[in-house]
Amino acid sequence: MGNDSISKALITAEDIQVKVRQIGDQISRDYAGMHPVLVGVLNGALIFMADLMREIDLPLEAYMMAASSYDGYESTGTVEIIKPLEASITGRHVILVEDIVDTGITLDSLLESLQSEGPASLEICALLDKKSRRQVEVPIKYVGFEIPDEFVVGYGLDYNQQYRNLPYVASMNAAAVNAAG
Ligand code: IMP
Repeated sequence: MGNDSISKALITAEDIQVKVRQIGDQISRDYAGMHPVLVGVLNGALIFMADLMREIDLPLEAYMMAASSYDGYESTGTVEIIKPLEASITGRHVILVEDIVDTGITLDSLLESLQSEGPASLEICALLDKKSRRQVEVPIKYVGFEIPDEFVVGYGLDYNQQYRNLPYVASMNAAAVNAAG
């Protein structure tokens, strides 16, 4: 599969950098005097998490957990926690960091799992929001960009594990993917 399956940048690397800095500043203000716990969702949030945590001017802890609900383009509807959180978040201020919220099914399930541990607070930070696709309402406190209903890759997001290393976010051309088999 060549890069002709990819549109030109939907969101440029520069725009992402500016936005990540803004979100980091906002979190630094909102959590001033606190010691928040960032929980990134693998693998998609890897790059966003790495950039975001360096824009937060607070003492913090960072962990990753992994859930799986997607197979290629389609959500399977069931969420499996592949790598649980390896830390206690009881009584902690937790920020769940996601690459993209689509149907909301993954986040809803992760929230329920984290909430059961009794955090002092639990907020969501997502780089991308495909709001028109939502099936389950999830309260997202920090959003980078609202995007249309297109499958996107880059900046951590994949199509069949490819394209995570693009420094920008681009739309996938579904027709080109199908034609390539
Ligand atoms: P949800 O459960 O439908 O909200 O899906 C959330 C997860 O699906 C994200 O964390 C991504 O890993 C994946 N996902 C959803 N939309 C896209 C997309 O457009 N490109 C790549 N991955 C996506």
